[in-house]
Amino acid sequence: MKSYNNRLFVNFIILTGSILAVLGFVLGQLFPFYIESYFSKNNIDLSADQIDQVRKQFSFIITFLIFLAFALISFVANNLLRNLLDPIENITQTARELTKGNYRSRAYAIGPASIVELRNSINILARNLQEIEKIREIEEERLKTLIENMGSALIMIDREATVSIVNRQFLDGFELTIDEVKGKNFLTLGLPVELEKFIDHVFLTELPYRKQIEIEVQQEIQYKQVYGAPVVGEHGRWLGVVIVMHDISELIRLEQIRKDFVANVSHELRTPITSIKGFSETLLDGAFKDEKMLISFLEIIYQESNRLQMLIQDLLELSKIEQHGFSVDIAPTSLQEVLIRAVELTSPRLDEKNMQFNVDIVRDVMVMGDFNRLIQVFTNLITNSITYSPEDTTITLRIKENNEYGIIEVEDQGMGIEKGEIPRIFERFYRVDKARSRNSGGTGLGLAIVKHLIEAHNGKITVESTVGVGTCMKVSIPLYK
Ligand SMILES: Nc1ncnc2c1ncn2[C@@H]1O[C@H](COP(=O)(O)OP(=O)(O)OP(=O)(O)O)[C@@H](O)[C@H]1O
Ligand SMILES: [Mg+2]
Repeated sequence: MKSYNNRLFVNFIILTGSILAVLGFVLGQLFPFYIESYFSKNNIDLSADQIDQVRKQFSFIITFLIFLAFALISFVANNLLRNLLDPIENITQTARELTKGNYRSRAYAIGPASIVELRNSINILARNLQEIEKIREIEEERLKTLIENMGSALIMIDREATVSIVNRQFLDGFELTIDEVKGKNFLTLGLPVELEKFIDHVFLTELPYRKQIEIEVQQEIQYKQVYGAPVVGEHGRWLGVVIVMHDISELIRLEQIRKDFVANVSHELRTPITSIKGFSETLLDGAFKDEKMLISFLEIIYQESNRLQMLIQDLLELSKIEQHGFSVDIAPTSLQEVLIRAVELTSPRLDEKNMQFNVDIVRDVMVMGDFNRLIQVFTNLITNSITYSPEDTTITLRIKENNEYGIIEVEDQGMGIEKGEIPRIFERFYRVDKARSRNSGGTGLGLAIVKHLIEAHNGKITVESTVGVGTCMKVSIPLYK
């Protein structure tokens, strides 16, 4: 712009200079004749020398005046040009900044009304662009947040089969980094074959598709509900496919637990009912006539019905505890008092097996707990220790505390539990030695109930056990502070 400005000015000077030069030349040529005729007309007699003198003086004055006019015109022209072109240059500069994406740029040119109008229009345009840019940024941010926090893995693949959008869940799910994925062909990512096939299907059919797939990630089977759909842009242009993947492994696991539970309950109910039915049939067939047989069969029927009753009671108890919204009546509770009651309740069985308690309590600890529920927990644990220990052994009860929890330990010298079995003993109906536990009259629900009750107290239970040596159950309940 500046050079254009200068060029215009130089052109102007040349033009004006030329005109003035021609003018000077013409005047210089004409003036002596005019003066000579003026002198002769007015009968002024001058010598040739004097005339020459006058002519020279006039030539000098005219040359001087022409120079003066030239300088004056140059000055005025320069100012005029600057006033006219500088604002335009400023506005052009602003427009150039806008095209570069700098929407904060503003024109400040002043000048005639048309320049001001042009400046205002450019500034309004800049403001509008700035607003649009801001809205676009907000929308982009929103979309990004949505994609990142939608709770499902998402990947978008364009028409050339390269990945255009991918979210964190997807990357974490397959242990990939953004650089390994973005702009790469989806077949080079090492995705599970099932997933690749699914994406292929959506590519081929260009129709929405939903499927449950089973994939192996880090030697672990995961179940995914996958949804794929073609992405169609403006004017029906096909842009690629979007795949959304939801992890349903937990749901499948729960479904399996439910199925197992129904199978277990049916199995547990069938055993006592079959024996009740069998023995009563034998009695009805005539065995009742033999008094000895009658009493022994009735005893079995009584025991079996007791077992049924226990099972149903435990099931009801468990279902109550597992109900949503189940809560315990938390109050400051003495662990020592809890243990005393639990010992009282279990000592008849202890005596039956000629076992004894070794109580190791240095001082009482107060916890936030439900007195009756805690008694239920420790009766269960002590009963297990009695059931799964040989005769003439000792059960040690300890009360301890740390910064957060009051801790009770129930340690026996029983058969112990294998390491691999420990996490499973809290499952419903799980028994380590199926036959032996069933003979002991257990339903396999005791520890499931214990675990739920401890969790309702915001506490925890840990197990340490060595086969053939014994088991130590450690229950931590939040301290009363
Ligand atoms: N102290 C222990 N020593 C050895 N094994 C144990 C001990 N406590 C629990 N177990 C094992 O864990 C299993 C589950 O215990 P849980 O108390 O849930 O069921 P149960 O004792 O069989 O029946 P119940 O519902 O009548 O208590 C038991 O069958 C037993 O195999
Ligand atoms: Mg038990």
